[in-house]
Amino acid sequence: MAHNLLKGKKGIIFGALDDKSIAWRTALRCVEEGAEIVLTNAPIALRMGEINKLAETCKAPVIPADVTNMDDLANLFNKSMEHFGGKIDFVLHSVAMGMNIRKGRSYTDLDYDFNHKTFDISAMSLHRVLQTAYKLDALNEWASVIALSYIASQRVFPDYGEMADAKALLESIARSFGYHYGTHKKVRVNTISQSPVKTTAGGGVKGFDGFMSYAEKMSPLGNATADECANYAVAMFSDLTKMVTMQNLFHDGGFSFTGVSKPVIDQMEK
Ligand code: NAI
Repeated sequence: MAHNLLKGKKGIIFGALDDKSIAWRTALRCVEEGAEIVLTNAPIALRMGEINKLAETCKAPVIPADVTNMDDLANLFNKSMEHFGGKIDFVLHSVAMGMNIRKGRSYTDLDYDFNHKTFDISAMSLHRVLQTAYKLDALNEWASVIALSYIASQRVFPDYGEMADAKALLESIARSFGYHYGTHKKVRVNTISQSPVKTTAGGGVKGFDGFMSYAEKMSPLGNATADECANYAVAMFSDLTKMVTMQNLFHDGGFSFTGVSKPVIDQMEK
């Protein structure tokens, strides 16, 4: 059900690859809530063409940008402001790529060229996005920026590999830039630490299915879905959460604060 929570707001959504993507689900919900959006993804991801279906449904232009390329990001913000005829109210950073994981390399056998690329795409890119917006003065006062994180930034999940470090950096950038953008223009920056969801990025982690059912058993409310994550992002983009900034917000059905659950104990006793 829509409540017009984002009526009149304009946003940029990074990272919709296919209809399972958290960004895809969020784009649909933002438009349902009255927002106008611009969609963006890496040029190579756009070649698959899937995003055009979403663009049609959302009546949104698609502007290519590799998040590691400053010219692409400047072009994206400039073109988006041109399209909207004004500044931007929200940004979803829903981008990640674990290069070593992709190449099957474990945490104790990292290739550092891949490692740099992983950090650049998955974490520094948030700084790049924020710095581009800051310098172009592209965001309205009280604009809201959300990036997606995972609890492996704070607790060890062995097969999450280098992405754990990338998420720790991402959360730190949200906090640090959140301070500067907050004092400068009242822009808020947060991360949402989401339950596992079977997407292209998520499914790339070794043992993902076991991981997902463990999280489901551990969480008092069960795993949060991509659609539920989209709802949370809408709330965070709305004016109802105006004073929330510099936070890592758990959206995980209670997983992060559960030591052990009855279903997990029962499983161990079998
Ligand atoms: P996804 O694979 O659908 O989305 C990842 C996106 O990153 C893709 O659209 C991809 O094209 C984009 N991307 C990769 N390299 C890029 C580049 N150089 N420039 C621009 N875009 C680039 O997967 P999902 O799961 O929707 O991932 C979105 C975010 O949610 C990621 O940050 C991920 O780490 C995070 N997350 C995912 C969880 C999961 O279990 N799926 C759990 C917690 C967080």
